[in-house]
Amino acid sequence: MTRLSGKTAVVTGGTRGIGWRLARRFLEEGADVVVASRDRGNWRPEPVAGGARVTFHPVDVRDPASAQDLMSAAADRFGTVDIVVANAGVSRPGAVEKLAPAHWAEVIDTNVTGVFNCAQAAIPHLRLSTEGRLITVSSVLGSRFAPGAAAYGASKAAVEAFTKVLAVEVAADGITANCLSPGFIDEGMGVQLRQNEAVWEKFRTKLASGRMGRGDEVASAAVFLAGDDSSYVNGHVLEVNGGLFW
Ligand SMILES: NC(=O)c1ccc[n+]([C@@H]2O[C@H](COP(=O)([O-])OP(=O)(O)OC[C@H]3O[C@@H](n4cnc5c(N)ncnc54)[C@H](OP(=O)(O)O)[C@@H]3O)[C@@H](O)[C@H]2O)c1
Repeated sequence: MTRLSGKTAVVTGGTRGIGWRLARRFLEEGADVVVASRDRGNWRPEPVAGGARVTFHPVDVRDPASAQDLMSAAADRFGTVDIVVANAGVSRPGAVEKLAPAHWAEVIDTNVTGVFNCAQAAIPHLRLSTEGRLITVSSVLGSRFAPGAAAYGASKAAVEAFTKVLAVEVAADGITANCLSPGFIDEGMGVQLRQNEAVWEKFRTKLASGRMGRGDEVASAAVFLAGDDSSYVNGHVLEVNGGLFW
């Protein structure tokens, strides 16, 4: 379990939910990890293997200067930045006619502009790595459509397109850019979905696996994209969704 040893990973939104699972697995795989979000108080207090190899740094991904500060702080702390997972995201459900413009803006600012800000800030650092890895996080709702998910779905479709362009632009620098697209995961915002029984039952019947995914299952895919095993995978959207047929 040392597929990431010698590498430094930055995980935005790494304080809880899927990001926390990713950060923990990256540590177990030997990486140094910088966990970043707006509020350190959200960092779940369970003990994480790794001790001094993990640190928190505040970031608001909507702010380009904050994203730049994060990448610089990670490089200062651990010497390099090799893996960046732009995972921070929010969801504000609502039918288009009733969706508050502020909610639309919050989702687009965080999920789209935030990914752009992190990628832009990361590139100069990743260029110095022998195998830079940029991993964005989309969603099943970026390519399959459900009422009430206009802002979120639009943001995740944009993330997928953005990642493919990014891959073409940074390949010459030895950096790959791939997108992880989780389905319904029993972490974070997925837990809220499961608690809405009517909605969850509708989606459950569309899953070949018949169950929600675990954060660890998303983390396994992230380790693949972050490590040497994915050296020839680039501009790809990797779905981790238990065989969703919808
Ligand atoms: N859970 C699922 O079923 C599922 C499925 C598909 C895709 N996803 C995607 O997976 C990612 C993680 O989702 P999750 O379910 O784990 O969500 P979550 O539990 O709500 O965690 C979201 C994380 O993002 C951080 N964050 C939010 N806004 C931020 C900002 N402006 N700047 C910096 N950090 C910010 C939060 O920390 P602070 O509040 O402290 O900033 C938190 O650490 C998201 O991109 C989501 O769209 C999730």
